[in-house]
Amino acid sequence: MKIVTIVGARPQFIKAAVLSRIFEKDSSFDEVIIHTGQHYDSNMSDVFFQELAIPKPKYNLGISGGSHGKMTGEMIICIEEIVLKEKPDMILLYGDTNSTLAGAIATSKLNIPIAHVEAGGRLGTMSNPEEINRIITDHVSSTLFACTASAMDFLKKEGLLEKAYLVGDPMYDAFRYYSGNVGDNCPEKLIKLDGTLITCPNEFYYLTCHRQENTDIEEKQLNILDAMESLDKPCVYPVHPRNSGKVKEICSSRDYMNVMFVQPVGYLMSIYLTKHAEKIITDSGGLQREAYFAKKQCVTVFDYVAWPETMVKNRNQLAKPMKSDILNKLSRNVTFDDYDMPFGDSHAAEKIIAILKERYLR
Ligand code: UD1
Ligand code: UDP
Repeated sequence: MKIVTIVGARPQFIKAAVLSRIFEKDSSFDEVIIHTGQHYDSNMSDVFFQELAIPKPKYNLGISGGSHGKMTGEMIICIEEIVLKEKPDMILLYGDTNSTLAGAIATSKLNIPIAHVEAGGRLGTMSNPEEINRIITDHVSSTLFACTASAMDFLKKEGLLEKAYLVGDPMYDAFRYYSGNVGDNCPEKLIKLDGTLITCPNEFYYLTCHRQENTDIEEKQLNILDAMESLDKPCVYPVHPRNSGKVKEICSSRDYMNVMFVQPVGYLMSIYLTKHAEKIITDSGGLQREAYFAKKQCVTVFDYVAWPETMVKNRNQLAKPMKSDILNKLSRNVTFDDYDMPFGDSHAAEKIIAILKERYLR
């Protein structure tokens, strides 16, 4: 069975890695990877292909930046051309980025079955660009793979249960699989935004922040950084390229002595930071789950619950992008007693592949 996998952004490389590893070993599959180019810096793309041993994409479309419409439109044109040439039996899409949406629109109109991994996540607001991508992709897909019971509930409400399967979270597969390569010693130095190397402290908080909703308004950025500045330990902050320009501008007029602004790190280093951080502050869908996997307290600076299963017992709490709210949430005592794992058994990829075989292999 020939499968075309479409990826383009950092979190998609991680999810695709756990499936591609199995495709490579199973002669019933021939996987062709299209990288849209949405993420292209070597620390946002190449490092994941190297560390996670993802097969080299046959196509790299080199499409990135610009408005949502321009990026998505250019991707649709190129994906359609390639898929017409490759004639796959099915398309595999991950998550909720513009690369996902482009793949969904281009290929659903070619009447090729689409499987969507990480289906069913809903925030309940169309003001979030990824919500639009998720809903459209789920509705045009033929097979939906949900990570959690709450995602299945959303799919049921939208009448999509017939094509949905609860398989667990491939991010949890990846976390378990690659954690074995990450010990207690820091694997590498951090790289500051000016390119100089710096040692990761033994005790630290881990911050990531890249959502359009938090980065587009400077006041929100300042509040988040001011909160990090008043923490009792340094805060390691790998800055996503979306807001590195704004961060440099802010730092030219203010001194943040407690915040270590560094370049994006690879996946293994991110796992190290997650496992060794005091607490985690993020707006990332992936990192808030990884915090839960690692039993670390997390504060998610966002207005909407993305992963309700992590929100029990204050283990992951929402905070407004306001210094006082972030510090208040971080100061709460949280335990991981009675911990359960709502993200599957770390074999989501095997389940997905078994279902694909049953449904589509002839
Ligand atoms: C995208 C996804 C978001 C996901 C995030 C993961 C959409 C709508 N958003 O957001 O859901 O959580 O990826 O990180 O698809 N840039 C670089 N170098 C890179 C990558 C991006 O400079 O390697 C720049 C782009 O040129 C652009 C900006 O960063 O100006 C934002 O990139 P974009 O891909 O549009 O959105 P993300 O914020 O990365
Ligand atoms: N991550 C990484 N390097 C970093 C920051 C994050 O490898 O500098 C990893 C993180 O561990 C998680 C994934 O990137 O696995 C999440 O991606 P991102 O936050 O970009 O996207 P989201 O999950 O919000 O869509």
